[in-house]
Amino acid sequence: MENEKIEVMIREAIPADAKDILAFSKKTGAETDYLTYGPEGLELSEAFEEMYLEGLMEKENEIMLVATINNEELIGIASVGSNDKLKTQHVGEVGITVAEEFWGFGIGTVLLEEIELWARESGIIRRLELTVHADNERAIGLYEKMGYQQEGRMARVMMIDGEFYDGVMMSLLID
Ligand SMILES: CC(C)(COP(=O)(O)OP(=O)(O)OC[C@H]1O[C@@H](n2cnc3c(N)ncnc32)[C@H](O)[C@@H]1OP(=O)(O)O)[C@@H](O)C(=O)NCCC(=O)NCCS
Repeated sequence: MENEKIEVMIREAIPADAKDILAFSKKTGAETDYLTYGPEGLELSEAFEEMYLEGLMEKENEIMLVATINNEELIGIASVGSNDKLKTQHVGEVGITVAEEFWGFGIGTVLLEEIELWARESGIIRRLELTVHADNERAIGLYEKMGYQQEGRMARVMMIDGEFYDGVMMSLLID
C-alpha cells in the first residue's frame, strides 16, 4: 500500500474558511475546558464569520492563521485580536487552539512562531498578551518556551460548572 503524504500547512484564514472554523470551534470546545466556549462553539453565523474574516484581511494589527492537513482538514487556529485606538492598537490578544488528536506534534509551537514573526513585521504590535487558565500546564509550558512571561495571577477569570478558576496573564514584548 502506498504511504499517504501528510503535509501540515499554515496560512492566513480566508472567508471561505468560515464554515470549517465554526465547526472547529464546536469540536475543540467539546474537547477541552480551557477555552472560553464549550461544545456550543463560537455561536456565530457563517455569514457573520465570513464578513469578519474578510475585514480581518485588511487589518494590520489583527490576524487569524489556520493549520491544515493537505490544505483540507483544519487542525489548528491561532489569532491575534486588537483595536484601532491610538493608545492600545499596539496590544494584540493571542488565542490558540489545536485539535486534541494533534497535540504534542509541534503545531502549537509553529503557530506561535508564525504569530510572533507576523507581529514583528506588522510595525504596529509591540505587546502580545493572553490570559490562560491557571491549570493549563501544557499551554503555559508552550508560552514559556516561546518566551512569554507570566505577569500575574487573576482571580475568577473562568467559571466552569459553578466553580471559579484563576487565570494567568502572560505577555511577549515585541521590540
Ligand atoms: C495548548 C495547545 C495549543 C498546545 O498545542 P500543541 O500543538 O500540543 O503544542 P506543541 O506540541 O507545539 O508544544 C508543546 C509544548 O507545550 C509544552 N508542554 C507540553 N506538555 C506539557 C506539560 N504536560 N506540562 C508543561 N508543558 C507542556 C512544552 O513546552 C512543549 O514543547 P516541547 O515539546 O518542545 O517541549 C493545545 O494543547 C491546545 O489547543 N489545547 C487546548 C486549547 C488551549 O488550551 N488553548 C490555549 C488557551 S490559553
